[in-house]
Amino acid sequence: MAILIKDIKAWQIIDSRGNPTVCACVELNNGISAIQSVPSGASVGINEAIELRDNNPDFLFSKSVLKAVDNVNNIIAPLLINKSPFNQFEIDNIMIEKDNTKNLSSLGANAILAVSLSVCAAASKASGLELFQYLGGINALNMPTPFINILNGGVHANNNLDFQEFMIVPYGAKSFSDALRISLEIFNTLKNILKSRNLSVNVGDEGGFAPELKTNKEALEVILDAIFEAGYSTDNVKIALDIAASEFYKDGKYNFENKSLTSDEMIDYLKNLCEDYPIVSIEDGLAQDDFLSWIKLTQILNKKVMLVGDDLFTTNPALLKNGIENNAANSILIKLNQIGTLSKTLECIDLAKRNNYRTIISHRSGETESTFISDLAVGVNSGFIKTGSLSRSERTMKYNRLLYIEKILGNGARYLGMEYFD
Ligand code: PGA
Ligand code: ZN
Repeated sequence: MAILIKDIKAWQIIDSRGNPTVCACVELNNGISAIQSVPSGASVGINEAIELRDNNPDFLFSKSVLKAVDNVNNIIAPLLINKSPFNQFEIDNIMIEKDNTKNLSSLGANAILAVSLSVCAAASKASGLELFQYLGGINALNMPTPFINILNGGVHANNNLDFQEFMIVPYGAKSFSDALRISLEIFNTLKNILKSRNLSVNVGDEGGFAPELKTNKEALEVILDAIFEAGYSTDNVKIALDIAASEFYKDGKYNFENKSLTSDEMIDYLKNLCEDYPIVSIEDGLAQDDFLSWIKLTQILNKKVMLVGDDLFTTNPALLKNGIENNAANSILIKLNQIGTLSKTLECIDLAKRNNYRTIISHRSGETESTFISDLAVGVNSGFIKTGSLSRSERTMKYNRLLYIEKILGNGARYLGMEYFD
């Protein structure tokens, strides 16, 4: 008997920031079913696919997603019932065609992605494979190097820090689990240091601490203190930043810490930061609409650090292609809900790899219990994952899933860490 989709249902659930989001269940005709849900960003790129919200001011602060839920139940489900769950590209294309807008604003990227991911999860269960194996086959062996967020700023915390994410990169570790152990030691050492300085150890949206530090450099200094005090050196633990510069770029100037920098001055600032600190990756160091400066930044820092386009590319193959053709950035952040389907995400990853752009699979600041991105990172041998801090279950679930995947892979698991930077 052919395995086909029997039913699809969606409903509204709660994300990690207390906002509603979409959850969908795909049921197959052999009794197998799978549930997936979609995350939501706070620093949203202008070219992202549209998250459909009801915008009813009298209800859940305008944030309910009942229309998107309705679209799954009444429009998408009838189109996909009796289709094969193994034809992911066909399934996604049917939804994209029905939506018939560039940014999925009619059905909603949240409605479409919930279905896209649950179809894939159901297909992997039906095939008897783990999700990462279904996605990547027998060559899915590379455990990603994690970028672990330990200090939150920007729109993810209500402290002074203007840069959004300060991350450690345990790149000299022997294995993924070793990388997590090292990071846990540094994370908890940082907690003790902050406490000893009478600074808050409350956490921000992505689980990193959110103390009132005065400057971004002060944040980098305290991270170095934590690395050293935990017994490590900058030979085996590096730093990655998500500046999220679009958030403070206004009228052609970068406004932070009482500075107002031109694009050239901002490039200089970033160059100096990389000389003064062991930084291996800078995400969104410049704004999404400052494209010519991205080209300059890439000429200057291309050989030294990963220059990651998040808002710049929004996981969109067409925007990435434009970046590749103009030598803008050298890496891309991959967020499923920026483009709205698994197929388009895989297309974007493939394009990046063929052009030697590094790929970092990423969570959003508003997350759910889904661990899909952990499997995706291993399934496509992405090399890197960014999924928050070592606190808050919606973040740690993703790391814990990776620990399980590492166990399943046994001797086959590879942790390239440092080699990715050679
Ligand atoms: P967001 O933040 O999910 O709020 O967009 C994550 C990021 O900018 O990488
Ligand atoms: Zn970002």
